[in-house]
Amino acid sequence: MHLSQRVLKARVSGTIRLAEMARERAASGVTVHDLAEGEPDFDTPRHITEAAHRAALSGRTRYTSVAGTQELRDAVAEKFRRDNGLKCTADTVIVGTGAKQLIFNALLASMNGGDEAIIPAPYWVSYPDMVMIADGLPKVVDCSETGFKITPDALLAAITPRTRWLILNSPCNPSGAVYSADELAALAAVLREAPDVAIMCDDIYEKILFTGAPFATMAEVAPDLAARVLTVNGVSKSHAMTGWRIGFATGPKGFIDAMAKLQGQSTTNASSVSQAAALAALTGPQDQVEDWRRAYQRRRDKVMAAIRTMPGLQARAPDGAFYVLIGCGAVIGKARPDGTVIETDIALSEYLLETAGVALVPGTEFGIPCHLRLCFAKSGKEVLLACAEMGKALAALS
Ligand SMILES: Cc1ncc(COP(=O)(O)O)c(C=O)c1O
Repeated sequence: MHLSQRVLKARVSGTIRLAEMARERAASGVTVHDLAEGEPDFDTPRHITEAAHRAALSGRTRYTSVAGTQELRDAVAEKFRRDNGLKCTADTVIVGTGAKQLIFNALLASMNGGDEAIIPAPYWVSYPDMVMIADGLPKVVDCSETGFKITPDALLAAITPRTRWLILNSPCNPSGAVYSADELAALAAVLREAPDVAIMCDDIYEKILFTGAPFATMAEVAPDLAARVLTVNGVSKSHAMTGWRIGFATGPKGFIDAMAKLQGQSTTNASSVSQAAALAALTGPQDQVEDWRRAYQRRRDKVMAAIRTMPGLQARAPDGAFYVLIGCGAVIGKARPDGTVIETDIALSEYLLETAGVALVPGTEFGIPCHLRLCFAKSGKEVLLACAEMGKALAALS
């Protein structure tokens, strides 16, 4: 069969590839500490699973409206009003099969050949490939010297007449960087002068924040720009529901309708039973969300202490999400016990998987070579065990 240029351009997600390598090793009986895949280790709260069970037993097993059930869209609109101060109603909300599918839909609904999307690096692995699949050009802006965040000057320099999107992700996967309200306001000042640029805010890690300051998103900070902001969120990370595949987005009605048009010709609607579960997640008790946030913060502190003791590694403590981006430049160029020189972060991640049984994702996948991403959404004990094994493997390098 012939393959399209579109699919030939795209890479397999590096995170998924690493997680599969780790799974294969685990299946062959080797102990593997999988700190590669980014998902909560907590179980979906019971009241959510029970709501899904009830929905399935009571026959809510049919197609729903393309953009999602009315009850869920109402609950999402309420979430955006309550948590984010957005002026949002159900008719400006779309529910999809995860935030990922909605981002993909949004890019497909808006980009023509050669249009550009500005992506601050380090970035979530999927953005550049999604942009390319949508026939666009990812315009990656290196933010490694500016706290892993794009500055107003760097944004201004990256905007061209072909720029269609700025993709912001805060808290960021993989860096854990968080944009403050003031930082967003400074970016908004640049964007006001660039009326053709839309802003995608991927807020999927909103609830995993360690700054102590309230979460900020562009449409709230700069309501005058809301007509060109797409705010994307979901229950995957906040409610430990990655497998249920429910995300949601809000933006200008015309654009949400365009996304729904694409969805109507592709997935039709997100799973009806999962939508019932997401409704329970948004409208039920929220105490677990805060308990988990605290647990992640404790794990972050433990993992940071462990990293500081490891030879050749350095990292800044993430302000949100559940990843640490570890600089490993001092290790690159060292030799493994078998004499092979470790020339890249990819080679280092392979060495750590083979020798220490620890799966981490190389920074190259996120547009930041000489780094490794560690996911600490695992029990504190497992993360510390993995760090101990890593420490031994690193000490064996010369
Ligand atoms: C930054 C970012 N956006 C979106 C997603 C996808 O979320 P969902 O599970 O809702 O598709 C992820 C998942 O890892 C992510 O890290």
